[in-house]
Amino acid sequence: MGGEMEKRTAEQERKEKRMLKVRGLSKTYEGNQVLEQIDLEIGKGEFVVVMGQSGCGKSTLLYCISGMDSPTSGQVVFDGKELAGLSEREMESLRLKRMGFIFQKTNFLKNLSIMDNIVFPAFQNAERGRREIVQEAEALMQRLGIAETAKHDIRSVSGGQLQRAAICRAMINHPAVLFGDEPTGALNSSATREVMDILNRINREGTTVLLVTHDAKVAARADRVIYLEDGRKKAELELGKYEKSMRQEREEELKAWLEGMGF
Ligand SMILES: Nc1ncnc2c1ncn2[C@@H]1O[C@H](COP(=O)(O)OP(=O)(O)OP(=O)(O)O)[C@@H](O)[C@H]1O
Ligand SMILES: [Mg+2]
Repeated sequence: MGGEMEKRTAEQERKEKRMLKVRGLSKTYEGNQVLEQIDLEIGKGEFVVVMGQSGCGKSTLLYCISGMDSPTSGQVVFDGKELAGLSEREMESLRLKRMGFIFQKTNFLKNLSIMDNIVFPAFQNAERGRREIVQEAEALMQRLGIAETAKHDIRSVSGGQLQRAAICRAMINHPAVLFGDEPTGALNSSATREVMDILNRINREGTTVLLVTHDAKVAARADRVIYLEDGRKKAELELGKYEKSMRQEREEELKAWLEGMGF
């Protein structure tokens, strides 16, 4: 085999492993530049966290990457598809089938039970029958330890239970990428730990995870941390060199790094 062939294979391989590619992403709101020339690549199965001071553009970046908002310029390629090239319908379908979302305000439908909220995206997707969907939701709730809340009204469960229900809902259509904006923001430290254990497990099983967080303990769980400052990517920290179980080493390195960023 010639060298050129080998090179092409390596390039192909990199492409196949790539889940997300962001190139020169900028976003302006009413003349106010919120994101400036962001470049970012995320591999399949990676766990990446975005940090930075309040107002630096973290949520905006997440919205632009996940098609909830559109960049003013630049490119977002999700699993080989350039988002700007998709019709509204294609975008909606991609979001429903390939992306899962966990936000701090979980936007549950108030008049539905926890179970009905969880199965809702699967009914919208309409690829499986009711029975199969409900069974899957039950299995997810079981795994996340909230089986007993199925029939509950969303106002009668704890913050931690609601957050776990949000993860069930985000996972019901087996997304390729799970996005979270401060998914543990409303939780105490033990509930945060539980939710992060669950996210680590989901990630280990192959789902790519991209989270925004203020919490260094949460970020210490990731393979890589991106630091934004005034809408620009200032630095990246690799934590993948540590085993996931090396919590203390991860946290210490991350905290020192964040201090250096002025966080
Ligand atoms: N829809 C909008 N219209 C106008 N300005 C906006 C809009 N959304 C965000 N901004 C501005 O963009 C900047 C970045 O906001 P963004 O919500 O992305 O920050 P963030 O890093 O997520 O902050 P936080 O940590 O407080 O959630 C802020 O100055 C904000 O006021
Ligand atoms: Mg935000």
